[in-house]
Amino acid sequence: MTTTRELRSMAGEEPITMLTAYDAPTAEVVDEAGIDVILVGDSMGNAVMGYESTLPVTVADVQRRTESVVRATEDALVVADMPFLSFGVDEADSIENAGTMLKEAGADAVKLESGPHTVELTRRLTELGIPVMAHLGLTPQHVNQLGGYTRQGTEQDAAEEIIEGAKAHADAGAFSLVLEHVPANLAGAVTEAIDVPTIGIGAGPDTDGQVLVITDVLGLDDWSPPFSRQFGDVRSEMENAVADYRDAVEDGSFPAAEHSHVEESLDDLY
Ligand code: KIV
Repeated sequence: MTTTRELRSMAGEEPITMLTAYDAPTAEVVDEAGIDVILVGDSMGNAVMGYESTLPVTVADVQRRTESVVRATEDALVVADMPFLSFGVDEADSIENAGTMLKEAGADAVKLESGPHTVELTRRLTELGIPVMAHLGLTPQHVNQLGGYTRQGTEQDAAEEIIEGAKAHADAGAFSLVLEHVPANLAGAVTEAIDVPTIGIGAGPDTDGQVLVITDVLGLDDWSPPFSRQFGDVRSEMENAVADYRDAVEDGSFPAAEHSHVEESLDDLY
């Protein structure tokens, strides 16, 4: 079982692998492949729930899916993502929602899309025993302020703000930090500046680990972000399987005798 402490010790020693998963069978595959961290990301909103953004995802959505992932995971660290407005509005509510992910759903840690408003909350959650993964750079819950899913930290001031934010969250006790869609040299500088592991997505090779969204990796969607890579073509596999099933039902070849049971002991039923 990977722990947050082990993850910290991997930084700079061996690359950390992280993927999202939102259901038990996928988590089982990811875990059995030896991926270090499974993130039950609020990316489920776009990836599997059919929303345009992550904003409609609720605590109950993440809780239920985290429960499924936890049931199927033996080794990976399971991190539950805190959905939009489930944290940062009121401290007691934030703690209760984050606590739910550990107490009820069985996650090992939570992830917060971070900013100046999450430094004290990170400290408080950590003090209470809720490990926090921070997340800087592109934070999709801010899409309405950012004006799209654009690269962050490209201007000097913004880059320095991200470095300062990373230091503040590491000082507040975050056990790791996701850096999303930032220049590779900025991600490298953040990784140098803090002593907790950085995990990049669209942040180049100089972080301690990498994370991608599972549906992108599998090739389940027609589209994936330019910084991602489709390592499979599961959509074609699904299309073929579904079309084969349809054809087999339509031409009468399914169900065959081996898929059926005739109970000889039944009396004549007609
Ligand atoms: O929700 C998510 O999947 C994420 C990753 C992209 C890091 O936040």
